Amino acid sequence: MSDSIRFRAIAEWLAARFSAAERGDMRVLDLACGGGESTRTWAALGFRDVYGIDIRPPNIRQGRLAQRAAPLANLRYAVADVWSIGRLGGPWDVVVCCGLLYHLDRPRAYLELLARAATRALVLDTHYAMPEVPTFPARRKMGRWEMGAEGLPGRLYREYKSEANRNAVRLARRTGSWVNLKSFWVSRPDLERMLSATWQVQVLPDIHPPELWRAVYCCVKR
Ligand SMILES: C[S@@+](CC[C@H](N)C(=O)[O-])C[C@H]1O[C@@H](n2cnc3c(N)ncnc32)[C@H](O)[C@@H]1O
Repeated sequence: MSDSIRFRAIAEWLAARFSAAERGDMRVLDLACGGGESTRTWAALGFRDVYGIDIRPPNIRQGRLAQRAAPLANLRYAVADVWSIGRLGGPWDVVVCCGLLYHLDRPRAYLELLARAATRALVLDTHYAMPEVPTFPARRKMGRWEMGAEGLPGRLYREYKSEANRNAVRLARRTGSWVNLKSFWVSRPDLERMLSATWQVQVLPDIHPPELWRAVYCCVKR
């Protein structure tokens, strides 16, 4: 599934969920937006304010280049840490969190932060962990099935071999964690149980194949 098709499917869900009039009065925060293609897609839906953040300056530069070439008045980008979400000038009606949760080491803490940050909807596109042996390409970086530091079952995922390796390569990479040497992929049932405590959850069909251990959750606040 290409990024454009994934983002288009999320955009269709947003457009079906919120009318054009509602969108014109809503603010969207796009966490870990990479090169900003997703952020531009949400901005094109006519939300009042769409803010994409990422920790890697080259990613944000890419978003701003596209913005200079074809400006959208409701679109902004900034270099920022996703853990600083409370200092990014909310409240946010919609928070989009694609490709991020599985690069963090405290998924439970981050889901709690997301539940506070988004007043109406959350779109979460993430990997989760399963007990069986992984078959997808990143399997060599996956740890054993275990109870993680937050008291949830799942698997550790190696981001960097050491602090020295992290400091040497993290800026040259366009993706991956920023600080943590390992991420924690939470089990699918625990992820879905935590989401359901705050949100009415819908899984977008046919975006990721099941063997990828990944899903797009479109969530509306209960
Ligand atoms: C797999 S990419 C996802 C990009 C895009 N959202 C997508 O779904 O295609 C992960 C992104 O998370 C960003 N990232 C990782 N840790 C971050 C942090 N602590 N704060 C902000 N961005 C972070 C990376 O720089 C990278 O752009």
